[in-house]
Amino acid sequence: MQIRIYDTPAQAGEAAALILAAQLIRRPDSVLGMATGSTPIPAYQALCRLYEAGLVDFSRATSFNLDEYIGIPEAHPCSYHRFMQEQLFSHVNLRPEAAHVPDGNAADLDAAARAYDEAIRAAGGIDVQILGIGRNGHIGFNEPGDEFVYGCHVVQLTPSTIEANKRFFDSEAEVPRQAISLGIGSIMNARQILLIATGEDKAQAVRDAVCGEVTPQLQASILRTHRDVLFLLDRGAASLLDRKGA
Ligand code: PGA
Repeated sequence: MQIRIYDTPAQAGEAAALILAAQLIRRPDSVLGMATGSTPIPAYQALCRLYEAGLVDFSRATSFNLDEYIGIPEAHPCSYHRFMQEQLFSHVNLRPEAAHVPDGNAADLDAAARAYDEAIRAAGGIDVQILGIGRNGHIGFNEPGDEFVYGCHVVQLTPSTIEANKRFFDSEAEVPRQAISLGIGSIMNARQILLIATGEDKAQAVRDAVCGEVTPQLQASILRTHRDVLFLLDRGAASLLDRKGA
């Protein structure tokens, strides 16, 4: 595992964007794993700037998002389909049919989850996976629990995630209670993982992921066993790490 610490969230995001851009420059047909939430927004803004500057081309790329709420329409202001359209997809030349987000409205959600993993396999696997981290250490919507779930699956959101995400909704009651998420195995199969964490409210989860035991109670801790994982942190998120960073 490697760690880079930046002065600001914008710089951490920009670093992630540069790595994604370099990946696309080297391999234009790359498969990118996308994340939502407030953390990756600076990365997407930087990617859009690189696209506008003519430095990066998405026309042969494929993307798979980590997760989606269950039971809200794709057009809902808080859906991850809509988030990705607004933050990235509508600004770059990624082909709409190559931009995948789990279907939170599928009639058979378990079948949709299996099909999503199969689509990733068929695309050749994820080259670079972007991750945020929840204050409870979740990655995707893999919540603290007794096990690491391997494949894409339906999850019950924990009260802490509902609390954290209510800021995007009109009220806590409107936050969906379930989501469909890539599993830990699907995430760990990515060839390279970039976890972005910014803000002091992520410092404890980052510290536990970097220094604590590997446990499903802190799902991000499994990342330490991945052979190519990079944590991109701002000073706030890194504030509980010691000088050596781990
Ligand atoms: P955030 O969410 O970027 O909105 O803090 C990250 C996450 O929950 O994984």
